[in-house]
Amino acid sequence: MDGGQILLSYIKVWVVLLLLSATFQNSKLAAKNTEQDKKRKLAEENSGLISIDCGAEEDYRDNEDTGISYKTDKDFISTGKNKVVAPEYSSTTRYYGKMLNSLRIFPEGKMNCYTLKPSQGKNQNYYVRAFFHYGNYDSKNHTQIKFDLYFGVNYWDTVKETIENKYWLTYEIIHYSVTDTIYVCLVNTGSGVPFINGLDLLFLKDSPYGSMNRSLIPRVQADLGGHQPPATNRYPDDVYARIWWLNINLTDSVSNISTKANIDIQGSDNPCRLPVDVLRTAVQPRNGLNSLSYSYKIGYGDNPTPEFLVFFHFAEIEQSAPGERREFTITLNDLEYEPFTLEYLKPLTIRSNLSRAQEGLVRFSINATLRSDLPPILNAFEIFELRSLLDGNPDLCKMNTCEKKQGSFSVPVIASVISVSVLLLLSIITIFWRLKRGRLNVSLSSSVGLSLSLKSKNQPFTYTEIVSITNNFQTIIGEGGFGKVYLGNLNDGRQVAVKLLSQSSRQGYKEFLAEVQLLMIVHHRNLVSLVGYCNEKENMALVYEYMANGNLKDQLLENNTNMLNWRARLQIAVDAAQGLEYLHNGCRPPIVHRDLKSSNILLTENLQAKIADFGLSKAFANEGDSHVTTVPAGTPGYIDPEFRASGNLNKKSDVYSFGILLCELITGQPPLIRGHQGHTHILQWVSPLVERGDIQSIIDPRLQGEVNTNCAWKALEIALSCVPPTSIQRPDMSDILGELKECLAMEMSSEISMRGSVEMSLVLGTDMAPNLR
Ligand SMILES: *[C@@H]1O[C@H](CO)[C@@H](O)[C@H](O)[C@H]1NC(C)=O
Ligand SMILES: *[C@@H]1O[C@H](CO)[C@@H](O)[C@H](O)[C@H]1NC(C)=O
Ligand SMILES: *[C@@H]1O[C@H](CO)[C@@H](O)[C@H](O)[C@H]1NC(C)=O
Ligand SMILES: *[C@@H]1O[C@H](CO)[C@@H](O)[C@H](O)[C@H]1NC(C)=O
Ligand SMILES: *[C@@H]1O[C@H](CO)[C@@H](O)[C@H](O)[C@H]1NC(C)=O
Ligand SMILES: *[C@@H]1O[C@H](CO)[C@@H](O)[C@H](O)[C@H]1NC(C)=O
Repeated sequence: MDGGQILLSYIKVWVVLLLLSATFQNSKLAAKNTEQDKKRKLAEENSGLISIDCGAEEDYRDNEDTGISYKTDKDFISTGKNKVVAPEYSSTTRYYGKMLNSLRIFPEGKMNCYTLKPSQGKNQNYYVRAFFHYGNYDSKNHTQIKFDLYFGVNYWDTVKETIENKYWLTYEIIHYSVTDTIYVCLVNTGSGVPFINGLDLLFLKDSPYGSMNRSLIPRVQADLGGHQPPATNRYPDDVYARIWWLNINLTDSVSNISTKANIDIQGSDNPCRLPVDVLRTAVQPRNGLNSLSYSYKIGYGDNPTPEFLVFFHFAEIEQSAPGERREFTITLNDLEYEPFTLEYLKPLTIRSNLSRAQEGLVRFSINATLRSDLPPILNAFEIFELRSLLDGNPDLCKMNTCEKKQGSFSVPVIASVISVSVLLLLSIITIFWRLKRGRLNVSLSSSVGLSLSLKSKNQPFTYTEIVSITNNFQTIIGEGGFGKVYLGNLNDGRQVAVKLLSQSSRQGYKEFLAEVQLLMIVHHRNLVSLVGYCNEKENMALVYEYMANGNLKDQLLENNTNMLNWRARLQIAVDAAQGLEYLHNGCRPPIVHRDLKSSNILLTENLQAKIADFGLSKAFANEGDSHVTTVPAGTPGYIDPEFRASGNLNKKSDVYSFGILLCELITGQPPLIRGHQGHTHILQWVSPLVERGDIQSIIDPRLQGEVNTNCAWKALEIALSCVPPTSIQRPDMSDILGELKECLAMEMSSEISMRGSVEMSLVLGTDMAPNLR
């Protein structure tokens, strides 16, 4: 990681902390029983639109124009104060006026968040829109107020407002939410008190604007050719409640054209769902000209060349003479799209390919083809900037085996060609060097099917060094599949754990190699990291960072007095999920751990969890690939029943094991519970209790009294979602991770309401957490 990335990581961690703390300030909300939620859900059910009038005293309906039912923000946030704009700044604008005239301000707290729970839930696209109008509410004539707007943990935009602005500001984003809860946050950056006047959340059903992994920021939404009443196409005229710009300056001089005829929106399968009034008007070049062009700067500051999408909206609104044809091409930033023609009163949308705005500009021209009888027209267009919001993981892929961020196409290809050659060269040099020194063995072959890189950081140790590091194998700290694990001290004072491969070990040489190779490649704060290894004939050892709190299995043992509390357990679940999610989705090819279990979850001094023991891991060339294997894998109690039956192994086998691990955390029971008549599987034990709704008997008795029941149910639901018998029914780790994070936030907010304080460093339990004070 270079300095910039590290900084970014720090900022993200910091934001997570702020966000969580904000959530807790908001505890009243989360702790509130579901009664309110139910009411709210019912009200939203029909519209898919939540419109919040921030700072309003009560709910109301805008009967005059839009029919929108505005809600006060009381149920969505519990911090801040209500204000109204000064009378001379009171807006009388149709459609918005009343909503803009009240606001909520946040004089206290670094970050304050609105908590939105749309009834459509997660894995949907939402259109979120925030309105700001300072309106001199404090009579202080501020000329420069600046604060940041965050979408969850992700920076969204910086709001800059001044008394000189007679109107208002709107910030919009289209986001695919992988969680049921959406947070919109205002962050005080020391340049004025954050405030907000209105907030819209709109469910986008089957819209073409959706993007699974990136957010869309609307930059221009233009209705061309003049307009017909109503003056704006606010909801419900526009089902997506877009706000259309009515006055767009195209580069060439144009004339307006319009029709009163009906445009067949319903009958068309155009999913952009433009209001008829937007399509009924258009522009065309002035007499004799054949081109319409437009240029817009979208790149600024630290994002000078963003990626973007353009949607061009057309409908033929002039009846042409028989035989006359209107045909044109679109050229967008030097890419030319196929010519097309229009049909009378039929909408047509052309969605551009994703491209990068070189020089920060979006430029297009729409030209008539040579054989066209008529000039081109354009009814409307939309420009969206694409933003990647990767979610708060400070240590994503650094290695060449992992997926790169999508960028320009040729650079990664060239880079990887170069790196492959460099790697080859390095490998050859290394092999020669090792041959010369008489200790070639770890040939970095691809027995795990990965393309490998050499990491000089993971140094090879000699056996003599190993003896000295462990002070002649003085202190045993554990016993793994390989053999015994010893405590060691490096010259620089670092403590390490040294795993020695015993001659009689169950796992063999191959697994040893697999583990070395994998750990050289994958790096993540929730995966145990390798310091080095020793590979001298019979003497083989792996040297790891030392994990002061041992493994999770031991921590959960019945007789353990230093018992993990509930929040620590949830944090461990989140950590482990993060590590596993990285193996599955952060690496190309994906890596299946195959032996996930509580004794493979190691804990640092601060109880940060890291996954260990990659000896059985396998990487698969294709993500969707499953793999039939006869090699036994896994540990009784954790083994995916589908794998047992079919030998069919994939990521979902790990998901199953993870579900069992969660059950262990919740119940404190091992996966195979010893009884009078042999062992009972933990799922067999849990199921009847779940059916009876008896959560109290499920929760580890040692946690009685400290667990919020809602939260425990949620955690259990997540666990059970991981363990259906067929793998296809199990969710992906990314979904599980999202759910667990929500669960943790819920727990922390209820703790706050009980205790009124929070230990921030424990939230993330990460060594990356910067100093907050
Ligand atoms: C704000 O501006 C008004 C009008 O110019 C002036 O009367 C008032 O004193 C100013 N208030 C402050 C706090 O500067
Ligand atoms: C985003 O998703 C698309 C398909 O939906 C995929 O092709 C692309 O690689 C993904 N990009 C990232 C950065 O994950
Ligand atoms: C076309 O309509 C726009 C928007 O109403 C208006 O500003 C412009 O003056 C009109 N142009 C002509 C040539 O009438
Ligand atoms: C529109 O473009 C013309 C010609 O480039 C320019 O003279 C005019 O000032 C522009 N108008 C606006 C509102 O930007
Ligand atoms: C479109 O027309 C404009 C104006 O005549 C011209 O400058 C431009 O090169 C044309 N674009 C294409 C792709 O033909
Ligand atoms: C847009 O993408 C499609 C699919 O990748 C490709 O076939 C087409 O040529 C692209 N169009 C342009 C103008 O680059």
